[in-house]
Amino acid sequence: MASSVTMEKLVNLCKSRGIIFPGSEIYGGMGNTWDYGPIGVEIKNNLKKLWWKRFVQESNNSYGVDAAILMNARVWDASGHTASFADPKMDCKNCKTRHRADTLIENHSHGAVNPDAMSNEEMEEYIKANNVVCPRCGKCDFTPIRQFNLMFETSRGVTEDGQNKIYLRPETAQGEFVNFLNVQRTTRAKVPFGIAQIGKAFRNEVTPGNFIFRTIEFEQMEHQFFCKEGTDVEWYEYYKNVAMQFLLDLGIAAENLRYKDHDKLAHYAKAACDIQYNFPIGWSELNGIHNRTNYDLSRHQEYSGKNIQYVDPMTNEKYIPYDIEYSIGADRLMLAILSEAYEEQTLENGETRVVMHFHPAVAAHKAAILPLQKNLGEKAKEILKSLQKYFSVTYDEAGSIGKRYRRQDEVGTPYCITVDFDTLEDNTVTVRDRDTMEQIRIPVENLVSFLTEKTAW
Ligand code: GAP
Repeated sequence: MASSVTMEKLVNLCKSRGIIFPGSEIYGGMGNTWDYGPIGVEIKNNLKKLWWKRFVQESNNSYGVDAAILMNARVWDASGHTASFADPKMDCKNCKTRHRADTLIENHSHGAVNPDAMSNEEMEEYIKANNVVCPRCGKCDFTPIRQFNLMFETSRGVTEDGQNKIYLRPETAQGEFVNFLNVQRTTRAKVPFGIAQIGKAFRNEVTPGNFIFRTIEFEQMEHQFFCKEGTDVEWYEYYKNVAMQFLLDLGIAAENLRYKDHDKLAHYAKAACDIQYNFPIGWSELNGIHNRTNYDLSRHQEYSGKNIQYVDPMTNEKYIPYDIEYSIGADRLMLAILSEAYEEQTLENGETRVVMHFHPAVAAHKAAILPLQKNLGEKAKEILKSLQKYFSVTYDEAGSIGKRYRRQDEVGTPYCITVDFDTLEDNTVTVRDRDTMEQIRIPVENLVSFLTEKTAW
């Protein structure tokens, strides 16, 4: 995290520069929902593209799917979500607000106490003994903890009886599991192989805000790697490294990332760890890596009644593979990337600038075309058109050149291309580097190769 960044500064910058807006804002908003604006959608799309490039395109044994959000309700019985996908919630008896007991403890202890390792009774005792208060009214007077299921329910068909109840998926993973054999058979993949998916997930979270860190609708990028039991420990370590390398390659500093093993394992997991990022709210989960064993596929075999065993083509051995899951939220990654990129600089002339140091491959626009004067617009637009075939490039002719540079710095455009009167004479332009602010003169015909090289990932 850049040392000068706070969540408030990020929220304000995102709103004023078209990165992220509060959801349903003109109706007074809707808690924990956010809308991506013109700059934000480009950045998030780039993050998703880079993830897909790394985990599908550049992989020889991983395949993508795009499964339905609405799934047969039995899927969630099999996965265990209907019975136990719940958060420990308690209500403040004084002001009637609802809170997660684990979050209250985490915030009160500033991360020193780990509620994941506590039972409900232990959490209740801790809250009383340490006078943990309601963040809204300041009283320590809560109901006992109750488990609230996080799945959003809806109904299929015209009547709303219990039989038609279905759910918005709370994770994309089950879409990968139920398609295990479809993918394996159609690609003739041999174990070990992976299935990847990017898509929306929904959870009825009660949260203290924290911008896009935890929202009720979010996107996940998930990769299930199916391997033979006995090789799972090795693959788990491999995906811990691969997941970390992806973040480093996006430009996140190693000092802002760390592994954190789970203290309490889910019933299906043999091992689980998070990679945490040093967010403005403190060290928190950015992504997870789980050894889910053969739990999910076995449960789907049991609940669907279909045989989903893999048959080894060499030995004819039949078995249900183990799964190493790597899961990262696209929105949570976006928050890490925004936090990491933010810098307030005081320049030599005493002026200040906010600059977002996105990796060029992540930046919304790779370049901005800036005609020095409006009457150079025709030439500038000609250059714009020639570059737009290859890159997302923006155009700005309003205000002084200094102001235009600042606007581009604030949305992290890595290169500003200034068109001046010399351009009309010798077909060269000035290219300004966002980070160093150095300027070089290059021929217009070299711009495509220049930007291709600089924005590669
Ligand atoms: N399939 C495994 C799974 O869903 P998870 O730890 O619940 O595991 C994986 O979620 C990732 O999804 C998290 O590491 C985080 O990046 C993201 N995520 C989870 N809940 C989220 C929420 N409410 N808002 C934003 N991102 C979330």
